[in-house]
This record gives sequence, C-alpha cells and structure tokens, in this order.
Amino acid sequence: MESQQKPLGMTRRQFVASSASALATGGLTAALSRDAQAAGVPPSEQSDRQGHHAPFRVIIDTDPGVDDALALLLAMRSPEVKIEAITAVAGNVPLELTLPNALRMVEIAGRTDIPVAAGAKAPLVRRLVTAAYAHGENGLGGAVFPESKIRPIAEPAAQFIQQLVRRYPSDVTLITIGPLTNVATALNSDPELAAMVKSVVMMGGSLSGGNITPAAEFNVYVDPEAARIVFQSGIPITMVGLDVTRKTSLTEDHVRLLEAAQNPVSQAAAKIARNAINHNREQGFLVGPNMHDSLAVAGFLDPSLLKWKQYYVDVETVGELTAGETLGYSPNAGDLRRAGMEKQVGVTMPIRGSAPTLGSTRTSPILRDKFVPNSNVATDVDSARFFDLLIGRLSGKQ
Ligand code: BDR
Ligand code: CA
Repeated sequence: MESQQKPLGMTRRQFVASSASALATGGLTAALSRDAQAAGVPPSEQSDRQGHHAPFRVIIDTDPGVDDALALLLAMRSPEVKIEAITAVAGNVPLELTLPNALRMVEIAGRTDIPVAAGAKAPLVRRLVTAAYAHGENGLGGAVFPESKIRPIAEPAAQFIQQLVRRYPSDVTLITIGPLTNVATALNSDPELAAMVKSVVMMGGSLSGGNITPAAEFNVYVDPEAARIVFQSGIPITMVGLDVTRKTSLTEDHVRLLEAAQNPVSQAAAKIARNAINHNREQGFLVGPNMHDSLAVAGFLDPSLLKWKQYYVDVETVGELTAGETLGYSPNAGDLRRAGMEKQVGVTMPIRGSAPTLGSTRTSPILRDKFVPNSNVATDVDSARFFDLLIGRLSGKQ
C-alpha cells in the first residue's frame, strides 16, 4: 500500500496521525493482523492499531441524504467507534430537512445517547445548491418516517465540534460526509483547533472528474472555500472521493438482503434504499445510488477495503466552471511523475497554480516549493467486501 511509506517531508506527528486516520482508525481487530499485512501496513503501525482497544472517538458531520442515512446507521452499528456527536449541515437538502433526518436515524438506531447538533444553513460565501435530484425532496429518496421525538442540543454544530475537540485533544476524528461548512467554521473560530484534531476522514473530492460538474464532486462543490480551509489546515486528511465511491452502486440484491432482516435498522435502510433506487430510475440514472458516504465510514472501520496514495490536495475556488475541483499533486503519479523522486525526502517539486494574468501583480505560478502531502487518497476499493460489511452491519448479521 503506497500510502504507508513514510510520506516525504512529513513531520512525525503528521505521519503518525495520517497513518492513524488511514490505517489505524477502527476495529475489526480480529481481522486486523491479516488485513494489515495484506495491505502492506508497516509493523509499527500494525502494533499501534492492535494496541488500540478503546473505540475511536468520532464526530460525524452530515447532510442526510440517502447515503448519509445509511452511513449513519452503519456507524451507529459499529462498536469500533464512539460517536461523540452527529452534526448536521445543509447540503443534499436544506438544514430544515437534514437535521430532522439525522435525528430520525439516531432514533431508529436506538442511539438517542448521541447528541445531534444543528449546523450551517448555507455555505461560507455561496448560495446553497442542493441535490434533491439525487436524494428526493425530503433527502431520503422519498422514504417517509415519523418525526423523531428527540431534539437537537442547544449548541450550534461548529461550537460543539470545538468543545469536543478541546475536551479530547488529538483524540477526535472528524468524519465528514457533507459540505465542510461546519468544520471550516469551527476551524475559523479557533486558530488552535486544527492542531488538536486527530484527523479528518472525508467523503469528498475526486481526482478523476466530478459528479455535479465535470470538475467537482458535490460536497466540495457546495462549499469550496470551506473545503479549502480544511485541506490547508494541517489536519491529516483521509480523502474517500468519487475515484472509489462511484464503484459502490447499490443494487436490488442488496435491498432484498436488507428487507429480509427483521430489525428496525435493516428495515429503515431497506426502505430508504428502495425509495432511492426508484427515485434514481425516475430521474434517468441507470445505476446507483452510490453509497459514497457509507464507504467513507467503512474505510475508517477497515482501511484494508481501500487502496491509498499520498497526495497534496488543494481546491479550486475561483474557476468560473471549475470551482470545487480537487487537484492532487504527487511526484509519483500522473504526468508530474519524476523517476526516483518517491525515494527522496522533502522532494523539491513545485506545486504550481495557474499562470499569472497580465493584470495581476503576481509573477510566479509556484504556490509551494516542496511536495508535502496533506492527504491519504483512496484510489481503489474492494466493492464486494465493502458491501459485505455494509449490509452485514445494517442487517445485524455482523
Ligand atoms: C456526496 O454528495 C452527496 O450527494 C452525497 O451524500 C455524498 O456525500 C457525493 O458526491
Ligand atoms: Ca452526504
């Protein structure tokens, strides 16, 4: 697994933390040793992970959302994580719907111990663009559930994220499966916070084209300025983008397995999934929906489901057609590749932006002189094993 070579130019903290986010975060401890070896995880990191018996503290930031809903149910059925909070954000549908949808999932899973906080109603500097075309007007593919009896906590999401990260410094992983507005707001309000976040595991971005424009993946497209703040924060990032999530199309067979299991989580997941498939077909999509967000959660639980590669990822924020595009710089990938560079420490590889315009005072397109990765990017997925985990956990068979 390429990402597990010590990344060039990374500090020990960055490396350990990024390894933890990409490799060590999660349980499935029984399978760990075998999986870790198969995945090429160095022995030091294997023992780090094996030694971690307590559940990993996470906050899930989400915009439910069909795939968010199933991702939340998956996480709430997974003993490897201690979910400190679920924070809702506007995205797939407005906050007025994502928040109640998050509360519904918590209630269905019988996990009313988890605090749910209301987050941003709109991106940092843009008007909200939603994805009702993919998730239906209610965000759950049209699947209707009663209103939940539980209420959100009083603290706004960004403030609650800040409180939790400060309460457990270097111990909280943020799993973000919606636009990054809440996280960026928390980071903006507290300059010391980034250094205290263990890692961000993000469903977002793509190094191989977008799903809402040819350039941009939806979560980054909706709030590119927020995404840029997160990518540039110095927090080790695990990026589970469209490169892998577009290989996770939900099928009728999956729905039938969920329907066959007689428990509330499986029944709810089946109902959402069936409605979402029908909605997708009505909208003219031939496959899907893809389980983007569940894959991010699953990759956290079991990193050996995915293959990883180190990149410096940045976000386009000014393009008229390309805002929200994520760019992955690497000295050993694509046309920027230079033979032998992957073995050098602190590679002198210019991170190059657009050429200066005649009207600007900027003279150089070089944004950074050295290649220092900020993200572990998922580059391939074992879809069959992913669905075994997802359906197994949701149906109560695992
Ligand atoms: C992402 O966008 C949303 O529509 C999904 O919930 C997922 O988080 C995929 O691009
Ligand atoms: Ca989402």
